Amino acid sequence: MPEFKDVLAAQSGVFSNKQALSPHFVPDALPFRESELRLIMASVAPVLKGQKAKNLFLYGKTGTGKSSSAKYVLEKLDAEKNPHICALYMNCRVFDSRYRVLQKIITTFHPKFARTGYSFAVLYEKLLDWVEEDGKQVVVVLDEIDMVKDLDNLVYTLTRANDDLRKGNVSIVGVSNKVDFKQRLDARSRSSLCEEELVFQPYNADQLTGILRARGQLAFVPGVVQESAINLAAAIAASENGDARYALLLLLRAGELSESQGKATVVDHDVEASRKAAEEEKAFEVISTLPEHQQLLLYALATLATDVSYKRLVEDGGDKLYFSGEVYERYASVTKKLGKPPRTMRWYREYLKELEALGLVNMVQSGKGVRGHTTLIKLGYEAARVRQVIETKVLGE
Ligand SMILES: Nc1ncnc2c1ncn2[C@@H]1O[C@H](COP(=O)(O)OP(=O)(O)OP(=O)(O)O)[C@@H](O)[C@H]1O
Ligand SMILES: [Mg+2]
Repeated sequence: MPEFKDVLAAQSGVFSNKQALSPHFVPDALPFRESELRLIMASVAPVLKGQKAKNLFLYGKTGTGKSSSAKYVLEKLDAEKNPHICALYMNCRVFDSRYRVLQKIITTFHPKFARTGYSFAVLYEKLLDWVEEDGKQVVVVLDEIDMVKDLDNLVYTLTRANDDLRKGNVSIVGVSNKVDFKQRLDARSRSSLCEEELVFQPYNADQLTGILRARGQLAFVPGVVQESAINLAAAIAASENGDARYALLLLLRAGELSESQGKATVVDHDVEASRKAAEEEKAFEVISTLPEHQQLLLYALATLATDVSYKRLVEDGGDKLYFSGEVYERYASVTKKLGKPPRTMRWYREYLKELEALGLVNMVQSGKGVRGHTTLIKLGYEAARVRQVIETKVLGE
């Protein structure tokens, strides 16, 4: 006999709760981060005894679970329901100056200060008064702390507050994925901020498999995702920086792809295709930030490669290779049409090297036979798509 849950499952395609794969989803547990969580908790724990927490700096590559771990610990701290502890999380992409950070701290707990226009000095006094009132223990997580413009001032102010306070204290958990971030701090703020440090290592393939399996169980109808597809997504993400966010994105896209084709399973091929789409997306982002003449060069190559009547090319397997000299001519005619003089051959060669370094083109030196020695150029991505991206994003057509 039919049950509603079966009918609903049939309608939902491959997903039972797609939200579980979204970047905003906060999982209940963070497997493979037990020791990191324990260390963060240990450095924050003094506030539970009415003492100041050590300032802590969390560092690691993107997608290694830093933000999730910091949020997890804040939730645990809130759950202690200690009225003297005020813990808050903020992303410094949004709160990107000393003034904004201070204002955010105060307005979170004291909404009447929400209006702007207070001078920094007034804001600072308010903060001290509020902390001293009943001896609060304030813990501030500053995620993406490298985005703060006047960071040395911020760290200095928040550290100095502890000298100015007769009761209560303020401690900082800074988070960043920028390698050179610490060097950008002056020596004094560096030693204040990094009283304790914790590095988040990239996840390996086994760990990513575990993370994906757990999230996959929440997100997909049981039995839909093949084990090998999970392993493949984990292996791909492990080989690219061990980024859990990327691994989750691959799985989400694979599911969407399979669903859009009306299929009932998610297999290796879907993961491969979603990797390809993700790479393309990245490449297209790169294209839109290239210097103008590199975009025009790429555009010239894409127009040759989408021109079916154009025959002066070398076909090698499925690849289409174009003669460097011909590409230059097309580039020159594209720039002239736009009323911009083409750059010289020398520049052109430099541009090609840069585009090759970005993986947008490949260059092959032809052997003897194909017009002596000559450079052949191949577009790294599908020509029609590249052309479309440049036409819409760059040329504004
Ligand atoms: N151990 C884990 N278990 C489950 N999910 C995880 C784990 N680590 C990370 N994730 C997931 O991976 C994604 C990225 O994690 P998070 O945002 O914490 O990374 P991050 O280190 O802060 O990265 P970034 O430096 O880019 O800010 C999130 O969706 C998160 O839910
Ligand atoms: Mg983060």
